[in-house]
Amino acid sequence: MSFVTRTLAAAFLALPLATQANANCDAGETKVVMSIVTALQGHPKGETALALADRVNSQMNGRMCMEVYGNSELYNDIDVFQAMLDGKVQMAAPSLSRFSAYTQKLQMFDLPFLFDDPIHAMDFLATDAAKSLKNEVRPAGFVGMGFWTNGMRQISATRPLRKPADVAGLTFRVQPSDILEAQFRLLGADPKRLAFSKVYDALASGEVQGQQNTWSNIYTKDFHTVQSGVTESNHSYLGYLVVMPQAFLDSLNPTDREEFIGLFELTTHEYNRFAFETNQLRRQDILDEEVMVVRLTDEEKQAWRDAFAPLYDQFSGVIGQDLIDAARNAKQK
Ligand code: LMR
Repeated sequence: MSFVTRTLAAAFLALPLATQANANCDAGETKVVMSIVTALQGHPKGETALALADRVNSQMNGRMCMEVYGNSELYNDIDVFQAMLDGKVQMAAPSLSRFSAYTQKLQMFDLPFLFDDPIHAMDFLATDAAKSLKNEVRPAGFVGMGFWTNGMRQISATRPLRKPADVAGLTFRVQPSDILEAQFRLLGADPKRLAFSKVYDALASGEVQGQQNTWSNIYTKDFHTVQSGVTESNHSYLGYLVVMPQAFLDSLNPTDREEFIGLFELTTHEYNRFAFETNQLRRQDILDEEVMVVRLTDEEKQAWRDAFAPLYDQFSGVIGQDLIDAARNAKQK
């Protein structure tokens, strides 16, 4: 481990450690079940969810309790919306690419190279323009509680990818977003929509040859073990909108609701800051397994930027040029 990695690891370990996914909820407690598709331990979303559950279970003991199920154990990120409306689960954090049934605007995060890094994305998420995006899910019966962060997507395949033309002819797994599909079509590759839980098997069997994801998603799901390498492209931001059913929140007594939202906001604020470090640790885990990581020169990165540029004209209408400009302007000089 390098000094930097050790220091980051130490900083992360200094956070209160969440120890168990599921409390034994007592009779009479109002239960919040959260369903997520990623790993729990060692993952930005999983660790944040566990920390929130720990706080709810200790600080609201006797009134509310929270259980977290990871690794798509309960639902995938599409089915979970209906499961919430049916009262089967009360919280989910689907990635921002998963909301196209409710709004086209959240797809903006899929635009390649809109955000330079997760700090830039988080600076945008703190603006009024971004906060208003949370309301896009209200008409469907959900409350957008807040944004959780993961990190930047990297791209991998069964052959090393250094230039955009290298992806031509391959099939890439994508999340259900028109921009992610268009991104691969633009380069002569085929996109295939698949649930996160199906990606490893699809890569291993050759059903798809490539994928794009954050270091933490790649490592905790072993995608790197069935790819020839990972290109450190940092080309788009993957984050989450945490949602709860409006009807459930309305059913809470005002004191409990306020306290739960307070714990949610505190945990969000505290753990979003560690997502970058968590991804750097998972990147190091991948390097430690001697997987090839392709690092791009500035010129090579510019070639990917140029190749994806037409997506901006194609999608600025559905997203809104004002939002794209707000995202660009959120970068701290
Ligand atoms: C994916 O489907 O690749 C991601 O949305 C998974 C996640 O929740 O990070």
